[in-house]
Amino acid sequence: MFGAGKPSGFPFAAPAHSPARPPIKCTVWVAGRGSGPVPQAFHGCGRRTLQRLSDDERRFSAYMGPMNRYQTVTADETVLRDGTIKLHGPDGFAGMRAAGRLAAEILDALVPFVQPGVTTGAIDDLVRQMTLDGGAVPATLGYRGFAHSCCTSINNVICHGIPGDKVLRDGDIINIDVTPLLNGWHGDSSRMYLVGEVPLKARRLVDVTYECLMIGIEQAKPGARLGDIGAAIQRHAEGHRYGVVREFCGHGLGRLFHDAPEVIHAARAGTGPELRPGMFFTIEPMINLGKPGVKMLDDGWTAVTRDRSLSAQFEHSIGITETGCEIFTASPKGLDKPPY
Ligand code: MF3
Ligand code: CO
Ligand code: CO
Repeated sequence: MFGAGKPSGFPFAAPAHSPARPPIKCTVWVAGRGSGPVPQAFHGCGRRTLQRLSDDERRFSAYMGPMNRYQTVTADETVLRDGTIKLHGPDGFAGMRAAGRLAAEILDALVPFVQPGVTTGAIDDLVRQMTLDGGAVPATLGYRGFAHSCCTSINNVICHGIPGDKVLRDGDIINIDVTPLLNGWHGDSSRMYLVGEVPLKARRLVDVTYECLMIGIEQAKPGARLGDIGAAIQRHAEGHRYGVVREFCGHGLGRLFHDAPEVIHAARAGTGPELRPGMFFTIEPMINLGKPGVKMLDDGWTAVTRDRSLSAQFEHSIGITETGCEIFTASPKGLDKPPY
């Protein structure tokens, strides 16, 4: 999350079929921070900003290559959202393992409760209680004005659905996204749940979206590029004629909830920052049964599919190791995807 403004502002309309990056013509655009950002898209939670470069900056950037700065951090350091990609050591892995496990246990424990007749507010109450019982606090509670302990996104809602009076109905699909903050570490994960009898078309979307997440994770190893993840996800989703949402993306995390880098889910292989041991980030593809376009509701949070088609999402928090990656939020009970 790089923008300073409130997400409720949503001051621009994203193009219906926005590319992963704006087309590069004679002006160079980079993802980044700085003065005069041009908001372009939102991510997992925050916004992506694209900044226009002056001629001097463009020449410098062409000479230097894309700015991907890495910073090795220890667990007791104050970590700034300064655009650098953080590289963590064993203490970071231990912290994320514990936070991720709690996230997974909460998602596991929700399984019997996700039934027709239950409200999303009741699910939120359960998540808050389980998070507190686990010795953590919900990172979303009070986050940029969000007043709930999880996000509940039903059917055509892509992400950031607000828990409330809405009642689950037979045939619904719902994403529940939790982020316990445990001992200073964020475990961010979401899964889809099937409510009662769900039509085959929707179940297929859910299955393929889970495959997208895992195919993305397969790419996550030292030496690969971040774009390899998005390329693999996009290829799989579009192979099924589904739309990959561009306006929201995964994100670095650790001591911070939303940090660099942005993990886009539609990308070109071989592009983006190199993956290095110690990097922590989420992969959280949002896949639409129809076109990829997004519409924001007036509450400033709820993102829905522009064409009202169903949308699904799964999210894991992972850490790059010497040989591959560790999934911090894997289900201890094997309940990573439905049917549960
Ligand atoms: N957990 C979401 C993510 O995957 C972020 C939710 S922020 C909220 O990044 F404020 F909407 F809850
Ligand atoms: Co996330
Ligand atoms: Co999340």
